[in-house]
Amino acid sequence: MRRVDSIAAMRELARGWRAQSKRIGFVPTMGALHAGHRSLVGQAKRDGDVTVVSIFVNPLQFGPNEDFTRYPRDLEADARQLEEAGADVLFTSTPGEMYPPSFQTHVEPGPLAEPLCGASRPGHFRGVTTVVAKLFHVVAPHQAYFGQKDFQQARVLQQMVDDLAFDLKLRILPTVRESDGLALSSRNRYLSAEERKAAPTLHAALQAVREEFDRGERSPARLAAAGRERLARSAAFRLDYLEVRDDATLAIPERLAAGGVAAAAAFLGRTRLIDNVLLGDATRRLG
Ligand code: PAJ
Repeated sequence: MRRVDSIAAMRELARGWRAQSKRIGFVPTMGALHAGHRSLVGQAKRDGDVTVVSIFVNPLQFGPNEDFTRYPRDLEADARQLEEAGADVLFTSTPGEMYPPSFQTHVEPGPLAEPLCGASRPGHFRGVTTVVAKLFHVVAPHQAYFGQKDFQQARVLQQMVDDLAFDLKLRILPTVRESDGLALSSRNRYLSAEERKAAPTLHAALQAVREEFDRGERSPARLAAAGRERLARSAAFRLDYLEVRDDATLAIPERLAAGGVAAAAAFLGRTRLIDNVLLGDATRRLG
C-alpha cells in the first residue's frame, strides 16, 4: 500500500490512473478504523481497479463543544488494517493543507441537512459536504463508498453529487454491527465497560420500531413513541432524538407509505451514539 500525504501527490496519482482508464474507488474516513470501514474497502476493491482510503479528522464538521481534539487518532494501526484489507493508497492530509488561512469557500447543504443530526449539530453537515467535495476533486474517484450507519450524511452527500454534477457514483453499504446489535463506530472506544453493556439498547429500540412497522403501524409519531419507550427502559441513555421519517426526503409524513427510516441519537455519558434502521421497502432503495 502506498502512502500519500499531500494534495498535489494524490492528484498526480489520480491523473495517471485516469490516463490509463483505471476505475478509482474511494473510501473517505476519519480513521480509528473498524470492520465497518473495512467493508467499504472490500466493496471498492471488488468494483474497481484501484482503491484509495483517506484519513482526515475534519475540524470543520465538529462543533465547538464536540470531541475534535480527543477523537481517536492511530495512524499506524489504521495503516496496518488497510494494508491487510488490500487498499492501494492511504491518503492523508493536514488541517493546514485542507484549510489554509486563505480558505473561504464552503458547500452549503439544503433542507436534508436540517433535521435529526443537523438540528443537534449545527454546521456539521456543511463541514462534511465541504470536505467531501474537496476530497472528491483531489482523488477524482469513479465510485465513492459510504455507510448506512450515517444515513443522513449519505443522503446529504448524494444530494450534493446530484446538485453539483459530480461525475461519480455513490454507493451506500449496510451497517456492520457487533453480535449484540451495536453498530460499529470509532466512538465506541470511548465507552466504559458499563456503558458498553447498555449500548445495544439503541439498536433494540430501533428494532422495536421495525417490529411495529411490520405489524402494520404507519404513523411516524406512534412508531417513534414505541422506539422511545423501548430506549427509556435503559436509564443509562440520554435521548437526543428518535424519529421516524421518509427515507428519501427525511420529512415526516402523516403516514408512511411502503417504507421509511427510524433514526436515533443518544448519549451514554459523554459519548453520542447514532444508529438507524430502514423500514419496509426502504431497504431496497439504498443504492
Ligand atoms: P467516519 O466516521 O470515519 O466514517 C467513514 C465511513 O465509514 C462513513 O461512510 C461511515 O458511514 C462508514 N461507517 C462508519 N461506521 C460504519 C459501520 N458500522 N458500518 C458500515 N459503515 C460504517 O463519516 C465520516 O467518517 C466523515 O463524516 C467523512 C465522510 C469521512 C467526512 O469527513
